[in-house]
Amino acid sequence: MKTGIATTTMASLPQTIILFLLLLGAFAQARDPFACDSKDVKTSSLPFCKVSMPIPNRVTDLLGRLTMQEKVRLLVNNAAAVPRLGIKGYEWWSEALHGVSNVGPGTKFGGAFPGATSFPQVITTAASFNATLWEAIGRVVSDEARAMYNGGAAGLTYWSPNVNIFRDPRWGRGQETPGEDPVLAGTYAASYVKGLQGNNGDRLKVAACCKHFTAYDLDNWNGVDRFHFNAKVSKQDIEDTFDVPFKMCVQDGNVASVMCSYNQVNGVPTCADPNLLKRTIRGQWNLNGYIVSDCDSVGVFYNTQHYTSTPEEAAADAIKAGLDLDCGPFLAQYTENAVTRGLLKEADVNSALANTLTVQMRLGMFDGEPSAQPFGNLGPKDVCTPAHQELALEAARQGIVLLNNRGPSLPLSHLRHRTVAVIGPNSNATVTMIGNYAGVACAYTSPLQGIGNYAKTIHQMGCEDVACNDDKLFSGAINAARQADATVLVMGLDQSIEAEFRDRTGLLLPGRQQELVSKVAMAAKGPTILVLMSGGPIDVSFAKNDPRIGAILWAGYPGQAGGAAIADVLYGTTNPEGKLPMTWYPQEYVSNLPMTDMAMRSSPNRNYPGRTYKFYKGPVVYPFGHGLSYTNFVHTIASAPKVVTVPLDGHRHSGNATISGKAIKVNHVRCNKLSVGLQVDVKNTGSKDGTHTMLVFSKPPAGHWAPQKQLVAFAKVHVPARSQRRVGINIHVCKFLSVVDRSGVRRIPTGVHNLHIGGIKHSLSLQPATLGVIKS
Ligand SMILES: *[C@@H]1O[C@H](CO)[C@@H](O)[C@H](O)[C@H]1NC(C)=O
Ligand SMILES: *[C@@H]1O[C@H](CO)[C@@H](O)[C@H](O)[C@H]1NC(C)=O
Ligand SMILES: *[C@@H]1O[C@H](CO)[C@@H](O)[C@H](O)[C@H]1NC(C)=O
Repeated sequence: MKTGIATTTMASLPQTIILFLLLLGAFAQARDPFACDSKDVKTSSLPFCKVSMPIPNRVTDLLGRLTMQEKVRLLVNNAAAVPRLGIKGYEWWSEALHGVSNVGPGTKFGGAFPGATSFPQVITTAASFNATLWEAIGRVVSDEARAMYNGGAAGLTYWSPNVNIFRDPRWGRGQETPGEDPVLAGTYAASYVKGLQGNNGDRLKVAACCKHFTAYDLDNWNGVDRFHFNAKVSKQDIEDTFDVPFKMCVQDGNVASVMCSYNQVNGVPTCADPNLLKRTIRGQWNLNGYIVSDCDSVGVFYNTQHYTSTPEEAAADAIKAGLDLDCGPFLAQYTENAVTRGLLKEADVNSALANTLTVQMRLGMFDGEPSAQPFGNLGPKDVCTPAHQELALEAARQGIVLLNNRGPSLPLSHLRHRTVAVIGPNSNATVTMIGNYAGVACAYTSPLQGIGNYAKTIHQMGCEDVACNDDKLFSGAINAARQADATVLVMGLDQSIEAEFRDRTGLLLPGRQQELVSKVAMAAKGPTILVLMSGGPIDVSFAKNDPRIGAILWAGYPGQAGGAAIADVLYGTTNPEGKLPMTWYPQEYVSNLPMTDMAMRSSPNRNYPGRTYKFYKGPVVYPFGHGLSYTNFVHTIASAPKVVTVPLDGHRHSGNATISGKAIKVNHVRCNKLSVGLQVDVKNTGSKDGTHTMLVFSKPPAGHWAPQKQLVAFAKVHVPARSQRRVGINIHVCKFLSVVDRSGVRRIPTGVHNLHIGGIKHSLSLQPATLGVIKS
């Protein structure tokens, strides 16, 4: 979103205003119906208000009653009222990336709704690799969103989640995403969207939106910003990487909306590209919902990119490409003239509106009284409930990643480590813990408070803020570490370093943070533990290699209860189970790497290292999927096929162009139900109960298209100490064992695919069904 809206915390408001808001809240009225108010007999008896009629018929009826002037005012986020038909104005723009957010004009905190449960930032939640958790968070967020809607404080259309690939470690918005792997991101998207939208057929609890389609993952780097960026992307990388989370969001998550991005892809603004919108999202993937622009991106491609010569052409191009709703005023201003000038047909406007009106009807907005509808009973009592806040804590516990544990130094013992020096610019963090696209949290537990529940603390900031420009506060920190039984340094980043419109310039800790950590570790009496808060990866090689630093934890931005979760992990009440959702590169990786170069694959002849664990082969600080536990897990394969036959569809057979290069085109394969089933035993050989996060990678047969490995499945299992549990894994062959050729065609390589699970390997041979077996 372009518009920055200042985050207001309750704490920053004067007491009198808070009192006023609370009084107001006490008398908060339920929202009036958006349309079809039974008190208005004239309009509520019109056919589009008939709940018993199929939605497409209701939409057609309503479209038939609207004038052109009325129609164009419905094409924008602050859609105008149509009083003569009993329809109120509606603000489409609300956000709920990891809790109901105060970004976007559709949502207002205050009154009966002073806060909402603020879950960890998405990159942290992704590290749990727990799809059940992602869906559960979506359910809680949509409960709170519906409650706020009923109270007149929020909309029903949420432009979340952000499922762009975290392609470059410097990206300021990487924190909002589920990481660098397309299958992880797609699974996250589908799960969170299901949680938000509910499970009631075509009816929607709230409407989610997967954004920003596509190849958008640069905000502002070296003079290039997202409003001017033309992402040059190969067909291979589109199909293999950038499209995957969006396709899974639409097909597996049934999302009700997709947002196109600011940038161009191969010279065409995404919001003006019929190939991307009409052909791919709606045509191939069958989106059941609406396509929305990023905020003012139609204006941006006209005014900033000069993509068309008149604004009417820009409006016409966007709608003809398949755009249904403009976040911004542009389409309300220019669409009518575009129709008058013959650049666009009224029928094109009607199809756009049919998509948005259908979503509003699926949300129940044309069904009269909100209180008489499903979720109509949700209200202030359903926001920030103890159960919701407990889930925010649980999510942080599941997402924290133990990167290093020398000795081991962790967990700390509340008997031996009675005083703890808690040091660092993030040691008493609150708002920092919720990252961007957050709301107003219900309450916070800072790291200092969390650790204070286990030990006596000596608090020192060490640096004034994360920029850490001087060493004025170093000596206090060093003295604290000298006295305490253990030292915990809570360091890292915040939104002043990485944010929307702010990409990082490098990967090291900012300012003099590194120096503070080393000096404190040198002086510390007890073990020194480094806790990092950040969205993007940090090159902490200095700490990894320093024998005085006992352990390193990454907490991401752990949400409102983050400090409690960090303390639970430090003291072993929680056995860490998170795994890195992105590669932690060394600083040198970015020194010669333009953020603007979109290529995923490495290219040795132009000294290009490639991106993500799938294609980059150089040294890393910590790899994708890294994460330790306080116990030890051992895998064995209990059962798995050695050979899998790939059945070709009726008219194909082996030895033909279909399997050129020994890789069968996926759309020549009978994919339905073609999957590989594995049974894996996971044994906890340690003395602590733990939850194992199992990642299954496949190494396809070598060839120029294939990544060195790719994530094909993941699963979680709780295993008590000295016990064993069996885990079933199903790998969809066409989706996950395929690779993409240079023309963007997905193919299944025949031959040996090696599956890697932790330290073990299983070879799987994929063979095309031979001639004669398949009968046409
Ligand atoms: C996944 O998360 C859910 C929700 O917090 C939790 O109930 C479940 O135990 C988690 N799964 C595992 C295996 O830990
Ligand atoms: C920690 O932060 C809270 C909330 O911002 C503040 O009230 C408290 O004084 C801080 N504690 C210390 C020791 O700085
Ligand atoms: C490949 O298929 C084409 C028809 O699509 C057929 O004419 C040709 O003979 C086949 N080639 C082989 C080697 O089987």
